[in-house]
Amino acid sequence: MRNVTIDSVTDAVVSSLGRHGPIGERQREIMTALLKHLHGFCRDVKLQHHEFIEACQFLARAGKTCDDKRQEFILLGDILGVEVLVDMLSNPIDGNESESTVLGPFYRENPPVLPKGASTAQKSFEGEETVLVEGYVRDTDGQPLAAATIDIWEDAPNGLYENHDPNQPEYNLRGRFETDENGHFALRAVRPVPYPIPDNATAGELIRYMGHHPNRPGHLHFILAKDGYRTLVSQVFDADSPWLDEDAVFAVKNSLVTKFEPGRPGDNTDLYVHFDFILRHQAQSAALAAE
Ligand code: BEZ
Ligand code: FE
Repeated sequence: MRNVTIDSVTDAVVSSLGRHGPIGERQREIMTALLKHLHGFCRDVKLQHHEFIEACQFLARAGKTCDDKRQEFILLGDILGVEVLVDMLSNPIDGNESESTVLGPFYRENPPVLPKGASTAQKSFEGEETVLVEGYVRDTDGQPLAAATIDIWEDAPNGLYENHDPNQPEYNLRGRFETDENGHFALRAVRPVPYPIPDNATAGELIRYMGHHPNRPGHLHFILAKDGYRTLVSQVFDADSPWLDEDAVFAVKNSLVTKFEPGRPGDNTDLYVHFDFILRHQAQSAALAAE
């Protein structure tokens, strides 16, 4: 199409979709909406050419920041509230199941498999507070789920995840545990501290452009998995941490906030946290998705 105008360019591009090659229904749906919103955004703010070039340069810098340890685009999505939105769209909550929240960029697959009660800490830090974390994993009918796997990861008392800190051993503060026949799990870790998400590159540029801040409240990350059940990606937040109401990535849910209590006799830790999880049957998930 020649002679596009400010008003006709969107239809021109939308009608080009699939004209010279097959595209699926979902591709068409995504691209049509993307074009409408993107063009609408440009029209709304009357985007100027130098701003378009600056945006392209920003994305190029973001790309150069990525490597096998740093995923800058997830960070950008988090700062914009996109990951939490996509998580809620992907995992609508049904009944009493546990709420999910963002995965974030720091998960590492295949963490060390550890026995019940073991500690994920391979190194100690001055001022750290050790914590016993335990609870039950059940289905939505209250039945215990045995042999569910629980991946857990968190930042160290210096505010850094192990894979962003050359002074921590590989897989420090990461582990995979399993529930016992009663659905019970237990592990030792350290109290997670509030930390700033990496803001020394484009994520920081975006935060400053937005006039926001990079801080997250202290939290433990979990992935719970069991065949036949929806995998739960979630976090447990320390009720006494700052930033709960101002999380840089908007991921705090009330149901995931819990108090770190003083350790009980026999725990051998400074603190104690009890947190139960409820997983939904896969069949329930399929029914919800079909609604
Ligand atoms: C995290 O919790 O690890 C995280 C989530 C989103 C952005 C950065 C970090
Ligand atoms: Fe985190």
